[in-house]
Amino acid sequence: PAARFALDPAFAVGEVDPRLFGSFVEHLGRCVYTGIHEPGHPTADEAGLRTDVLALIRELGVTTIRYPGGNFVSGYRWEDGVGPVEQRPRRLDLAWRSTETNRFGLAEYMAFLKKIGPHAEPMMAVNLGTRGVAEALDLQEYANHPGGTELSERRVAHGDKEPYGIRLWCLGNEMDGPWQLGHKTAREYGRLAAETARAMRQMDRDVELVACGSSGRSMETFAEWEATVLAEAYDDVDYISLHAYYEERDGDRDSFLASAVDMEAFIEEVVATCDHVGARLKSSKRINLSFDEWNVWYLSRYQHQAATQPLDWPEAPRLLEDSYSVTDAVVFGSLLIALLRHADRVTVACLAQLVNVIAPIMTEPGGPAWRQTTFFPFAQASRHGRGRVLDVRVDSPTYTTAAYGEVPLLHATAVRGDDGAVTVFAVNRDRHAPLPLEVSLRGLDLTRVVEHSALADADPDARNTLDDPERVTPHAVPTTTLTDGVLRAVLEPMSWNVIRLG
Ligand code: AHR
Repeated sequence: PAARFALDPAFAVGEVDPRLFGSFVEHLGRCVYTGIHEPGHPTADEAGLRTDVLALIRELGVTTIRYPGGNFVSGYRWEDGVGPVEQRPRRLDLAWRSTETNRFGLAEYMAFLKKIGPHAEPMMAVNLGTRGVAEALDLQEYANHPGGTELSERRVAHGDKEPYGIRLWCLGNEMDGPWQLGHKTAREYGRLAAETARAMRQMDRDVELVACGSSGRSMETFAEWEATVLAEAYDDVDYISLHAYYEERDGDRDSFLASAVDMEAFIEEVVATCDHVGARLKSSKRINLSFDEWNVWYLSRYQHQAATQPLDWPEAPRLLEDSYSVTDAVVFGSLLIALLRHADRVTVACLAQLVNVIAPIMTEPGGPAWRQTTFFPFAQASRHGRGRVLDVRVDSPTYTTAAYGEVPLLHATAVRGDDGAVTVFAVNRDRHAPLPLEVSLRGLDLTRVVEHSALADADPDARNTLDDPERVTPHAVPTTTLTDGVLRAVLEPMSWNVIRLG
């Protein structure tokens, strides 16, 4: 049987915030060093930025880029990363048992964003692990104050006369996680987040602040953590963060393909928790969600590696360099669909991470850069998923999964652009059979299929590698039709689909 849904412009979820297509650069492994920054690389510019990587980042269409961590930020001294590069200290990075050279820091990050383009916006995390309010204020003043004070003049002396104008700030990272330097209870963190937020707003009322939510839905403290943190900080922050990573466990691919079921439930539970606190406080203010780390990550492999071969403080080691298959890309696309389906409340999201470290872009030191399979769904969603998300209620055949029970085979969303064009994003979770799709278009002046692009492969484990960097790319599906207001398509087994209607 076919999967079906109807689209009607009168029924919409909300506007897509461009920040939904953010990403994340952490000082971790080779994300910064030999990822985006490699002086001496044949494509490096005068700042040591790899221009081959910059071109791919532009093509990917990322907007907001979170920096400098991640777990790294909880031990970071931002002062180490400013001023003359030769004078910057080498430090132990306890989070990733590496040596941090600090050759890349705040000024380099801001210059990097500028080179990506005008839509690339900073999202800066402050260290609330080993540090606190004073250091967050120092960083804010160094970065954003125009001049005339010791810290702002230090920035000017370091070569940046214009303030950076960083608006969006993360108040720490994963402070609920026992692995985090300076791990805190919800009450301790909530209090610190509120104090830091109030102080930062005293310097500038217009900053936008993200409080740490849970590091994952399966954390023991999940939901209680959000409720307690927000009870302390509701009036002072704008966002609460969510982090989620998915991987195939014990060969259970059917459950893996349904990972977005968990992601959607996570989002809805955090929305409910925020609104519950708002109701208790009799507040008309709404806290939005910053899904500032999401991806497919074979975390269990990393944990095994970390447990069996502890790192001996190397510089820029190969860490978390997951290679993504077609299956991973289909799940990844489904995670994008989950974010879009909740665009009314998820207004910031960061794909973790951008280069080399669980990333859509890979590089070889001194060598080429290439697109992983996950590159394509992100680039397509960022390009065509702008506008208003329409309400999609699917009527779909289902399959049974061990992790989530009965799950629809179709996962879909649709976005209507300002020009009236509509793009349907759809995943067929069926590993073996094609899925016929029928969409009835009501009140939409659409007459033709502009493009149906699919990512699917006879080999579910196919991937792009250094030796075969273009093994997997999306292909056109020529058989899709739109007649008498009905879109008809056949979605290939285990596929990610982008159907553009004009
Ligand atoms: O993205 C990798 C790591 O995952 C981040 O440093 C941390 O915040 C999360 O646990």
